[in-house]
Formats: sequence, structure tokens, C-alpha cells
Amino acid sequence: MPIIKRFLTPDDLGKSLRQDVADGLTAFPKTLPPKWFYDERGSELFEEITRLEEYYPTRRERAILTERATEIASVTGARTLLELGAGSGEKTRLLLDALSGTLETYVPVDVSGDFLASAADQIAAEYPGLRVQAVVADYERHLDQLPAGPRRLIAFLGGTIGNMEPAERVSFLGGLRASMGEDDALLIGADLVKEPQRLVRAYDDARGVTAEFNRNVLRVINRELAADFDVSRFEHVAVWDRERERIEMRLRSAQAQTVRVGALDLVVEFAAGEEMRTEISAKFRRESFEASVSSAGLGIDQWWTDTDRDFVLSLVRPSL
Ligand code: SAH
Ligand code: AVI
Repeated sequence: MPIIKRFLTPDDLGKSLRQDVADGLTAFPKTLPPKWFYDERGSELFEEITRLEEYYPTRRERAILTERATEIASVTGARTLLELGAGSGEKTRLLLDALSGTLETYVPVDVSGDFLASAADQIAAEYPGLRVQAVVADYERHLDQLPAGPRRLIAFLGGTIGNMEPAERVSFLGGLRASMGEDDALLIGADLVKEPQRLVRAYDDARGVTAEFNRNVLRVINRELAADFDVSRFEHVAVWDRERERIEMRLRSAQAQTVRVGALDLVVEFAAGEEMRTEISAKFRRESFEASVSSAGLGIDQWWTDTDRDFVLSLVRPSL
């Protein structure tokens, strides 16, 4: 049986959702942070996205992991695998298999508590010799409370690093660097810049699964904060920002409308066509990736791409 620690109680979650929604819906332009996509349904929808033909990142990262897992195991000799934003941990099994000679503990960390608990249950059942210690936490707030220990491999897969604003990314990486010992390593998956058409397709699939995922944040706010968003009156938008090299997901108000957020005593007006940003997904080049990690006192040790150079898995270590 896995051990489950909760640094985020339902009460903390409620407080931080209230703060983010109050800030985001009163800002101009309006924004909502992407972590609120992920209630249980949001996590399931993300899993469905990873199986879409248009959404290449998961397949590409899995291909790189398949090819490099043995090498990752031999260069890290990890005894603890700490995975941030672990989700289902589906690809992680490739690392767990390759690390079987040295690995003692697996620590999946995620904000989506129930989904994490069932993913951890499954992994514990499949790997009976492994200590599985799941942590329900916000990796932007609780890094300093995560388990320490010798020879940790910290994995941050899926391209989730791209969902942070540049300043957040640097402070997050700086926090990670501060928590790392000399023999720890960090394995980061990042999506690479490519033709805008493929990028937009990956975030605006034909079946509309990404659109449902995007709108899920409104359902979360309706349920948790007694709001009355009419989800059908918000359209999914995915655009490529050429200058900042990132996809932005937005929700566009199909008409002028008023939304009430009961728990905040807040009334919010949306103009017809008004767009609210719900996610950025930055795409990297080696130079932009290196700039982010080096400003946090980290350096690139390995840079592994798939054969089409769509995605990178980079092993990063504290720089001397
Ligand atoms: N690593 C998996 C899942 C990626 S989806 C993969 O590669 O497929 C992003 C995951 O990060 C989700 O499971 C989401 O719940 C989690 N997440 C998002 N923001 C988070 C935060 N601030 N703290 C902890 N987990 C977060
Ligand atoms: C989790 N993260 C890396 C995904 C991404 O590609 O930015 C979330 C996602 N958003 C839309 N589709 C998938």
C-alpha cells in the first residue's frame, strides 16, 4: 500500500483557488492559472489528450524514455525517484523498470489528489518491492517539504515546465536547485519549437477533447466556488505566439454575459468576444532552455531528442 501525504488539504486548496480566481477574474485581461484544470475529470481529460493523434508530445517523450532509460539509470544510480506533476505515471514505469537495481522509493507529487492516489495504488501493486510515497502538494509552494535523501532523480516530465511563465520558471528551478544535493539530478521533458500549424493542431484537436479540458476549469470554479459559468457560452481558442514562442489557450466569451462567483461575492462581466487566458505552453530551443536552467544555477548534462527533434529530455545537474 502506498503512503499518501497531503501538504494540500481541501481547505488550503479552496483558499488558493479563491485567491487565484479573485485575482484572475478582476485582472485585465482576465487569466486563470492552469493548475485548476486538474480535478479528477481534468486529469482524465488530460490522459485522453495524450492518446490523440494530434498530440505528439507524450508519444515523443515515451520514445526518448524507451531509448534512454537504461542510460539514465546508469548515469544517475538513483535511489529515490521524485516526480513532480506525476499524473498517471504511465511513462514513469519505463524509469521504474530501468532503475530497478538501485531504486528504493518513488515519490509522485501532484495537485490532483484523488487521481494521484489511484495512480499510486496501481504502481504500488505493480512494483511490490518499491516504497511508494505519494504527496499531494503544489510544487510551486511545497518544494522545501519534499523528501530529501541521497541520490535523488527528480523528474519533471510531459513538457509541464512550459506551463510556467518565464519568471515563475526561474524561481521554481531556483527552488529545486536549492533543494538538490550534489549527487541529485533533474530530468526535464520539454517540447521544442516547430511549425506553428502542428503546434496549433496539437492544442485544438478535431474531436474537441482539448476544448473540454480547457472548459473544465469553469466547471471546477462552478462546483468549488458556487459560480454560474454557462460553459457552453465559452469557446476554446489555441493560438501560437510567434514572438514568445508559446501556445496560449484561452476561453472566448461567445456573447456579452454576466457571471456570479457566489463564494467570492463577485460579479464579473464578459464582453462579447473577450478572451481569458487559461494556459501558456512554452516551446523551447536549446538556447532558451539553457538560459532558464543556468539562471537557476543548473547546467545541461544530457540533451536527448527524438529522431524528429520534436521533444527533448534533458538531464540537468547543479553547476559547480
Ligand atoms: N507528468 C505527466 C502529467 C502531465 S499533466 C505526463 O507527462 O503525462 C501535468 C500534471 O501536473 C497534472 O497531473 C497536474 O495535476 C499537475 N500539476 C499542475 N500544476 C501543478 C502544481 N502547481 N503542483 C503540483 N502538480 C501540478
Ligand atoms: C501538462 N502540459 C504539459 C500540457 C501541455 O501540452 O502544455 C497540458 C495541455 N494543455 C493542452 N493540451 C495539453
